Amino acid sequence: MRLGILISGRGSNMEALIRACAEPGYPAKPAVVISNKADAKGLAIAADMGVPTRVVPHRDYASREEFEKAVDAVLREHDVSLVCLAGFMRVLTPWLIGRWDGRLINIHPSLLPEFPGLDTHARAIAAGKKEAGCSVHLVVPEVDAGPILLQAKVPVLADDTEAALAARVLGVEHVCYKLAVKWFAEGRYTITNGKASLKEKPSGMPEGFLIP
Ligand code: GRF
Repeated sequence: MRLGILISGRGSNMEALIRACAEPGYPAKPAVVISNKADAKGLAIAADMGVPTRVVPHRDYASREEFEKAVDAVLREHDVSLVCLAGFMRVLTPWLIGRWDGRLINIHPSLLPEFPGLDTHARAIAAGKKEAGCSVHLVVPEVDAGPILLQAKVPVLADDTEAALAARVLGVEHVCYKLAVKWFAEGRYTITNGKASLKEKPSGMPEGFLIP
């Protein structure tokens, strides 16, 4: 599968996916990295790793849909087959989501359906949660909903700060995204009634990974 990776900033999940693609037998290749922000740090990382990059500045377009049409054109130009949102900070309209229906996935830093939206780690700490984590899911028009492909959980420690928890979750995000994209590209998921299920459950998974 040819990945189109959409970023807005640091790009550590993007980097994890590009690195995974270089592993022998990994069933995907990075086709293009697109950022809506010209100063996204991930752009330089992708370029250093030999992946084509493009900036599509959302402010240059009169509407969300015009912006998305420009993004869509770049994805098609690079013959992308799976779109991976990786810290892409624009809410997508049903137009782009419909156009990539079933081929558009996201990573979110919470154990969905808990804490959709922003500030997930601060909210998990404030709620006194004992566990936090991340979710890779197919994108549907409702924000941070959609069939869950893989989750990973980590403990919330008694003295956790938002930054400490974010760093712990980010560590499992990188593994989670890489595995979910692999299994997705291998056609190992079935999606029924809005729920994903992995056909053959792998054995020997690291602790904390939740396979649907
Ligand atoms: C990650 O926590 C991801 O789950 C969220 O945005 C953050 C992006 O980080 N959607 P990075 O740019 O991949 O380092």
